[in-house]
Amino acid sequence: MPIEIESPESLGYDSIACNLAESSVRDLSFRDLGIDLQELILAYGDHMGKPALRELVAASHRNLEAADVLITAGAAAALFMVHTAFLRPQDHLVVLRPNYATNIETPRAIGCQISFIDLLFEEGFTVSVEKIKKAIRPNTRMISVTTPHNPTGTEIGEYAMGELCRLAELHGIVLLVDETYRDLGFHEPSTLAASLSGQAISICSMSKAYGIPGIRLGWLMTQNKYWQEVLLAAKEQICICNSVVDEEIGYQFLLGKDPFIAGIGKQTQENFRQLCDWMDHHAYLEWVKPTGGVVCFPRFREGTLPDAERFYHVLLNQYQTYVGPGHWFEQEMRYFRLGFGWEKKEAFMAGLENIDRAIRDCRG
Ligand SMILES: Cc1ncc(COP(=O)(O)O)c(C=O)c1O
Repeated sequence: MPIEIESPESLGYDSIACNLAESSVRDLSFRDLGIDLQELILAYGDHMGKPALRELVAASHRNLEAADVLITAGAAAALFMVHTAFLRPQDHLVVLRPNYATNIETPRAIGCQISFIDLLFEEGFTVSVEKIKKAIRPNTRMISVTTPHNPTGTEIGEYAMGELCRLAELHGIVLLVDETYRDLGFHEPSTLAASLSGQAISICSMSKAYGIPGIRLGWLMTQNKYWQEVLLAAKEQICICNSVVDEEIGYQFLLGKDPFIAGIGKQTQENFRQLCDWMDHHAYLEWVKPTGGVVCFPRFREGTLPDAERFYHVLLNQYQTYVGPGHWFEQEMRYFRLGFGWEKKEAFMAGLENIDRAIRDCRG
């Protein structure tokens, strides 16, 4: 997939001066965390995940207890487990597009039937419950949505999420809610889908909001005890348990996260203000303003980007500035993902200026 080949990790961070392609905040070093692991016993861990970590996670949500939380190696592993445990080739899935690749590629690999709900710029990238309702078939096994959404940064409000829960309950199907960006909202996160209904599975992660994606830690939550057993069995087939090192780091980080979050939030909000100013007066770009996460999905106004390949080439090779071109998300190249959580203010502003320079160069 283009996103795998062209991701900043694959390209090499050294070749990018202004990284506006990332969907997370800046990575921390282990030293920043001040965590001592000397006493940690390197045994297999609890298969569901470190009990104290599960308790801590459950305590911040309504209607959930530690037994409803299964720790996973990031949200990516949780998504893979849910898709492979619940979907068979004869099943039908309703899923948003554009999307984070795993939400589409794993169901595709399974070979199930897929109805895409296209999020349209003209509709503010809003998720229409009505469209999802109309897509339901007798063999629909799962509805899969993401909030805050990657790459658009839009959210599903609590009312619409409630409607999706009722829909899943009515049809007895799985409502999979990818809430990986939950802790990166511009406001208090709305109620977790798994708290609203026993028919929902919520997936969360430590990767995006805290700058520690390298510890590969996330979790899935559902009140449905039978589903938890099925998903634990899926996890055991893949990895038995999590890395106890990752779990311990994640647990200790969560216990002392507040000072980190304050700093991260300040930088992200400052970048977002600069981005709004830049976008509000832009002659060639238009956008749907994001309401959560650290990414948005602007596009070139109709007919203003004569040669997309050249624009992205010039932007990277001449100005060492990187954004995520539309084909990362199976969209037209006039769209691109722009992340505002990664770079400090100076590099972020330079990145925006470089986009303007590349546009000027390409428009002649
Ligand atoms: C919507 C979404 N879900 C899941 C993931 C996977 O995240 P993790 O690092 O927790 O595996 C990503 C990563 O980009 C994502 O954007």
